[in-house]
Amino acid sequence: PPLDEVLNLHDFEAVARVVLPEKAWAYYSSASDDEITIRENRLAYQRVWFRPRVLRNVATVDWSTKILGQKSSLPVYISATALGKLGHPDGELNLTRAAGKHGVIQMIATLASCSFDEMVDAAVPDQQFFLQLYVNRDRDITKRYVQHAEKRGVKALFITVDAPQLGRREKDMRLKLVGDEATSEVQKGQAVPKDQGVARAISAFIDPSLCWEDIPWFQSITKMPIILKGVATAEDAILAYEAGVQGIVLSNHGGRQLDTARSGLEILTEVTAALRARGAFPSPAFDIFVDGGVRRASDVLKALALGAKAVGVGRPFIYAFSAYGQEGVEKAIQIFRDELEMNMRLLGVRTLDELRPEMVDASAIRSHVGSQP
Ligand code: FNR
Repeated sequence: PPLDEVLNLHDFEAVARVVLPEKAWAYYSSASDDEITIRENRLAYQRVWFRPRVLRNVATVDWSTKILGQKSSLPVYISATALGKLGHPDGELNLTRAAGKHGVIQMIATLASCSFDEMVDAAVPDQQFFLQLYVNRDRDITKRYVQHAEKRGVKALFITVDAPQLGRREKDMRLKLVGDEATSEVQKGQAVPKDQGVARAISAFIDPSLCWEDIPWFQSITKMPIILKGVATAEDAILAYEAGVQGIVLSNHGGRQLDTARSGLEILTEVTAALRARGAFPSPAFDIFVDGGVRRASDVLKALALGAKAVGVGRPFIYAFSAYGQEGVEKAIQIFRDELEMNMRLLGVRTLDELRPEMVDASAIRSHVGSQP
């Protein structure tokens, strides 16, 4: 269908399912094991209801913000997703170009199909990037990669901490690879296992020994703010805060890692409560981000009302460029804008700062730990 018939982010998924080659669809859409967590990522947002305020003069509304000190036209950033060329010949450059045109921040993936420099070279003046890092067993490689990114002006380092091993995405594993179709730029020329799906093929270098004791080393090799991507409990949120990093992403990796892990939104209420009890929330020095299942501006506003600084979005943007290239990504950004304008008006907020926990009813979110009441 022509792009002007796409009305919402779900539509991109429906189109991508039809136009993508089978392997690309399997890699992008799959989640681990029984795919319970990926479903839960959507369901969690449906358990939170709005408590809108009225008569607040919402003639002018403004959804722009700053993320880690960088201007962003949306409280949404493009989260890292690997292997963009499976979906479109220009791969992640579609994201870079659309993000640059519309003032959105792109998190560059370690396992992008396009090279890091290709993306940064394609930036417009003042365009900002974050870097997603998979930590290599060879720390010299990681050090060089991080320092190169910092030198090229990347503004934050997101270390992925929920993937000591990649989850079993069975839809993906059933399809065998041929030739070089699933190698990321960083792995050109290296031997990769080809009989266990795309995810396994690209992830062999990731270091499963990564641990809290490594954090000071990262702090010693870069001045970029460090964010831990994939925190899933209050306990680890507190450890992150105590380690002196600048933030966390509450995430289950789009349902692709530990199946039946909770949704980021669910974790958020637990984390803010625990941090608040220690005087660490709200804090200008420690930001909380959420990703997974964000498909509507209403989802964004719920996460922000409950304490997130911004949210990450993955699949909708890759589906958008797979089907429509750069224009698709621009349209996805436009949809977020239009929906934010309408939803902020209907909710009674003029700026994102006016969002409050009282504007949602999150009583159906279970924020208790284990068997405690
Ligand atoms: C991802 N994600 C991811 N995360 C990461 O830290 N490094 C990576 O290389 C990738 N690669 C990747 C590929 C694909 C195809 C998907 C769908 C996801 C996870 C991503 O950053 C983000 O956490 C989720 O995608 C968010 O969920 P939604 O928006 O896809 O529901």
